[in-house]
Amino acid sequence: MFNTADIKEKFPIFRHYPDLVFLDSAASSQRPQEVIDTVSAFYASRNANIHRGIYTLSEEATNAYESARATVARLINADSSEIIFTRNTTESINMVAYSWGRNALTPQDTILITLMEHHANILPWQTLAKEIGCSLEVVSLTDSYTLNMQEMERKLEQMPVKLVALCHVSNVLGTKNPVAEIIRMAHAHGARILVDGAQAVPHLPVDVQRLDADFYTFSGHKMFGPTGIGVLYGKAELLEHMPPFLTGGGMIEDVNIHNASFQEAPFKFEAGTPHIAGAIGLAAAVRFMEEISLEAIEKYEERLLAYTLDKFQSLPGVSIFGPQDTDTQAGVLSFSISGVHPHDAASLYDESNIAVRAGHHCAIPLHKALNVTATVRISFSVYNDTDDIDACVQATERIIHLFS
Ligand code: ALA
Repeated sequence: MFNTADIKEKFPIFRHYPDLVFLDSAASSQRPQEVIDTVSAFYASRNANIHRGIYTLSEEATNAYESARATVARLINADSSEIIFTRNTTESINMVAYSWGRNALTPQDTILITLMEHHANILPWQTLAKEIGCSLEVVSLTDSYTLNMQEMERKLEQMPVKLVALCHVSNVLGTKNPVAEIIRMAHAHGARILVDGAQAVPHLPVDVQRLDADFYTFSGHKMFGPTGIGVLYGKAELLEHMPPFLTGGGMIEDVNIHNASFQEAPFKFEAGTPHIAGAIGLAAAVRFMEEISLEAIEKYEERLLAYTLDKFQSLPGVSIFGPQDTDTQAGVLSFSISGVHPHDAASLYDESNIAVRAGHHCAIPLHKALNVTATVRISFSVYNDTDDIDACVQATERIIHLFS
């Protein structure tokens, strides 16, 4: 097991704010020095546009960008040609909705999502369903905040589902969905599947080939990488038949005034100058995670969650929204404190230098089903330890006391 103090040393934010208890990594993680240095070194000494220049600097920048693609592919066991750099998970999902969805779906089809989705995995399908005239259906949750698998199976059996779109890990409940099983079920019923892995990739090993995912999406800024860089993984056989999402420079084979032919994937999906420094910084973030190992990160966060659950479960007036079981929950814990608005709670945590998120966490349909307008959410990463949790528990006790 790694040493959290050593890990924390690598994050300069904690030198600037030594008292900071950062419990909002599900919104955006902090960045290690090596990621910051990699981005800065690119601009300082390797900067040039890619895929265009016939000069050394540009060729080196191209090699660094393409090598970053290979590093990201290695992380999730994909082929480089199946890795498309986007801005974030939201753009990745929209790309699938526009490029694949508008061609693959008909008014007779159904898109199946779940009640625990982030708006990024609801709105693109809502928009698409309205445009195509197809149905959008939802799978609800069990009383223990896991997916209702019977309902999932029933809907797959009874409805002409063409696409299942669901999160690997819920950004509110922390629920780890049994995606391998769901992918098998979806495929057995002839449906394709998109997995929103934004809350999974920074916290557990992901192997898209073993999962047999059709599409898998994630964001750089939640996994120690730069903002503005994200990833869409798509199976080669699907990407091959998908038209470009955006068109313009850098993605063509030939152009005349009325027609154009496009390069192969992934290049046909990366119109315009991409976020070169972002991709290179993301590769540094991947190397950072690989050095610790995703297996070690998962185990460590599991233990931290067990510790946190144990403390929070005994706090009076605190209601937890999540499975509360380390087999089915990742390091995300949402809760409410009786009689305290989550925004007031977040301000009071902030007075103790504790950064938490309060609100609907871009999951309003889920919050409506939970019958609350907002929750407080804490979420972990490798730089958190039991001292952070103890500080958070003490602050929670103070808040409870203040409002009692
Ligand atoms: N999707 C991010 C979150 O859950 C912003 O906080």
